[in-house]
Amino acid sequence: MLSHLALTCVLLLVTFFVARRFVRDSHKLDGFTQKHVFITGCDSGFGNLLARQLDRKGFKVIAACLTEKGAADLGAAASPRLKTLLMNVTDSASIRRAVEFVSREVGERGLWGLVNNAGRAMPIGPTDWMQLEDFTKVLDVNLLGLIDVTLQFLPLLKKARGRLVNVASVLGRLSLTGGGYCLSKYGVEAFSDSTRRDLHKFGIKVSIIEPGFFKTNITNSDLISADLKKLWARLPQETKSSYDATYIEKYKHMQDFYLGFLCNSDISKVTRCMEHALTARYPRTRYGAGWDAKLIWIPLSYCPSFVVDFIMSVLLPLPKTVRIN
Ligand SMILES: *[C@@H]1O[C@H](CO)[C@@H](O)[C@H](O)[C@H]1NC(C)=O
Ligand SMILES: *[C@@H]1O[C@H](CO)[C@@H](O)[C@H](O)[C@H]1NC(C)=O
Repeated sequence: MLSHLALTCVLLLVTFFVARRFVRDSHKLDGFTQKHVFITGCDSGFGNLLARQLDRKGFKVIAACLTEKGAADLGAAASPRLKTLLMNVTDSASIRRAVEFVSREVGERGLWGLVNNAGRAMPIGPTDWMQLEDFTKVLDVNLLGLIDVTLQFLPLLKKARGRLVNVASVLGRLSLTGGGYCLSKYGVEAFSDSTRRDLHKFGIKVSIIEPGFFKTNITNSDLISADLKKLWARLPQETKSSYDATYIEKYKHMQDFYLGFLCNSDISKVTRCMEHALTARYPRTRYGAGWDAKLIWIPLSYCPSFVVDFIMSVLLPLPKTVRIN
């Protein structure tokens, strides 16, 4: 009797919270055609798709690209409303020029949305194959670059009481690969959490996007492997001798297999989360995007370390085949 009552209460509570979440999620703002959104990393991948998607919705999109070709191709694929500019997130002066441009575009209205999307992943590989600059190369773009862009655009964002959307990753919860990528994404999570609390009082809402594995240049196995071969070639003999000669092949096979199995080619799953963060009355703090994020990585990130360590030890190849005589 009592257990029936308890079960009913639990079911009612769960139903209430699911329904409440659904209703909160469905409240949308309007007036998009008067809102400016600035997106970094629009040459390809999530940034490129988001720029075109928001452009179609009527937003005034300003898309920052790293390359002239990226900017020209995007400009050709979008409406005349969309503006492109060249910006390198590791170059403060280029961010300053972008702020001046955006400031003239938005005027007194301010900037509604800042989407920090630009990122790089390589080099990825075993930690003992890395040098310090392999870490700084990635941290400079994914973390310090993101912080620099945020700080410089903050006055424009405050003016509009707008939205800050930072692209982290499920690898900002689980450090599954060696190299700077996971570190940088852990940093994006931490920076976003403190920024959300500090900017709340100014009416700015901060959302973190945590994509699982998606088919973009970040997860291109051929690019990662070609880069890994370069790391191998420059290793001192002493480090090489602690690995089998076939290790790099095994690593590539493992990577091809898992990326082939995991990588979702529908990257609109990610850009829909970004759009929700920019258009919902109550944007979420965190968006997990992709079935692997929701069903594998985010639940795994709540597991004790020994569980994650065990799973990774099964997945990764052994450096050397150990023979027991
Ligand atoms: C971006 O700026 C850095 C210096 O901060 C420079 O080393 C790099 O080559 C630049 N990248 C491009 C594509 O211009
Ligand atoms: C990878 O980057 C290149 C150059 O920016 C681009 O042409 C290509 O479409 C990108 N691939 C993906 C899958 O985004």
